[in-house]
Amino acid sequence: MTTTYEEIAKDLAALKSPPNMPDYEALRASFSWDTVRAELDLPNGVVNLAHECVDRHAARNPAKTAMIWEGANGSVETYTFEDMRRESAKFASVLASLGVQRGERVFFLMDRVPELYFAVFGTLRRGAVICPLFSAFGPDPIAERINRAEGCVVVTSPALYPKIEAVRARTPSVRQVVVIGDRAGRRGPEGATLDYATLMAGAPEAPLEPTANEDWSVIHFTSGTTGLPKGGSHVHGAVLGHYATGKYVQDLQPGDVYWCTADPGWVTGTSYGMFAPWSNGVTSLIYEGGFSSAKWFELIQRHRVTVWYTAPTAIRLLMKAGLDIPRRFDLSSLRYTMSVGEPLNPEGVVWGLEAFGLPFHDNWWQTETGSIMIANYPALPIRPGSMGKPFPGVHPGIIDDHYREVTEPDVEGQLAVRVPWPSMMRAYWNDQERYDSRFKDDPDGGPRWYITGDRARRDADGYFWFVGRDDDVINTAGHLVGPFEVESVLIEHPAVAEAGVIGKPDPVAMEVVKAFVALNDGYAWSDQLRRELIGHARARLGPGVAPREIDCLDHLPKTRSGKIMRRLLKARELGLPEGDTSTLEED
Ligand code: PRX
Repeated sequence: MTTTYEEIAKDLAALKSPPNMPDYEALRASFSWDTVRAELDLPNGVVNLAHECVDRHAARNPAKTAMIWEGANGSVETYTFEDMRRESAKFASVLASLGVQRGERVFFLMDRVPELYFAVFGTLRRGAVICPLFSAFGPDPIAERINRAEGCVVVTSPALYPKIEAVRARTPSVRQVVVIGDRAGRRGPEGATLDYATLMAGAPEAPLEPTANEDWSVIHFTSGTTGLPKGGSHVHGAVLGHYATGKYVQDLQPGDVYWCTADPGWVTGTSYGMFAPWSNGVTSLIYEGGFSSAKWFELIQRHRVTVWYTAPTAIRLLMKAGLDIPRRFDLSSLRYTMSVGEPLNPEGVVWGLEAFGLPFHDNWWQTETGSIMIANYPALPIRPGSMGKPFPGVHPGIIDDHYREVTEPDVEGQLAVRVPWPSMMRAYWNDQERYDSRFKDDPDGGPRWYITGDRARRDADGYFWFVGRDDDVINTAGHLVGPFEVESVLIEHPAVAEAGVIGKPDPVAMEVVKAFVALNDGYAWSDQLRRELIGHARARLGPGVAPREIDCLDHLPKTRSGKIMRRLLKARELGLPEGDTSTLEED
């Protein structure tokens, strides 16, 4: 049963501090990216994320806490903006001594420890490009991504190093592996790896490379319907988007303690775990551990978190754990809470109200957009279930199949964004064709559209409502998984002739990865084979990507041109109408 939730009105007088954007329509009317640019530092035209996020705050306010770090065992360390500047400047010279040149790619396979953040900003300061990897990836996704961007250095931890060792022979571009020793004193193996602490001891502080707006900063790999992952490539100038959305969507203010729960292996963990808060000069909490309802509320209480950015899967898990848990803690420091990455059901929005008196504000963006495009704001009433309204300075629209804007309200269509905006990707790394395919001309002559791959509608008041993906990409707990990547690994198993992979709805993770296989002659389906295939996929892909369920079919539905019809597999799995099957191959 779906309940209709009333609009949540906003009373500005009741907010704990006046918002940076008191009037949405007024800012939308007057907004200019030049004004945003003028609020940044940009010395002599240099645009570098490390300068905007670290140096300029270290210069003005060196003793201000940039990072409060809590380890998984509860120990706490704090670092000032000056600490961040010094350590990242040393890491930049470490990279220089390793021969890393401007524009070269440095990969990170890391847990959330302070040195990760120093190394990231050190890499950006060097003018090299950061490429985050998710620590739950298996060897295949890791090797695939390193090879696509020809990574020259990998930064990792003693616990994760074995995954790098396993792919070392098939990632020939990697010249060095730097291991950041852990707090238990473990280091990487001598000979095969370089030790971070040893390299940093006595390293001089490197000056900032004078990068410009269009120089590469970050490559974030993201999955598509077909083919292997694409390297969404971003420039230093994207900081305008991080800073402006940090200011107006996240409402970051000087006294805030901000907590983004996303892992830095994914785009939210960099854009909003690092760049948005620190470009706004705000103190950020980093928690090394994973999800735990009681622990999370304890963190908010202990560190007096004021602004909290999390995700629907986490909110659903908190809801499941029950209201008794938040009520055991003093959460009065919180003033603003947000959610991103998947549709946030209205129940989730209002659960925040029940649990700590604040609704969750949903917002929407993608790896490719680089920063938040559509959002709910402190000063705007929330329509629970809606992603909110466009960020001032960006122009999303609903378009039909001919790329013509649909202006009537409440009509479903493709969600597209008018180009350009500062943080939009500038390339899929070395993949011009796939990049170009994401942009279409407006037949009415307006600026070109970037096609998001999502479907949505806009109501008469300009609020956007997410409908679903327009492709076969799976969103599991806010992480995108490309079916092709999973299918490719399954068919490498000798028993598997064909594989088709879909997202199966799940009450907590939104979707889980489900595979269908047809077997080669001589193999019979059994529980044992199912377990073996799941084991094979987990070993190759990692637990975050491998299918949770596998079923066997005599053969998979295919189009006449031989493409597996994932949509039909999904419709059959869910008992939904099969839709247009006119292209279905005949038996
Ligand atoms: O399908 C949309 C979903 O996540 C996709 C972007 O995923 P990714 O590139 O990994 O970027 C993560 C940063 C948010 C979108 O195309 N998505 C994201 N936010 C929302 C969402 N779906 C519904 N509601 C949202 N608020």
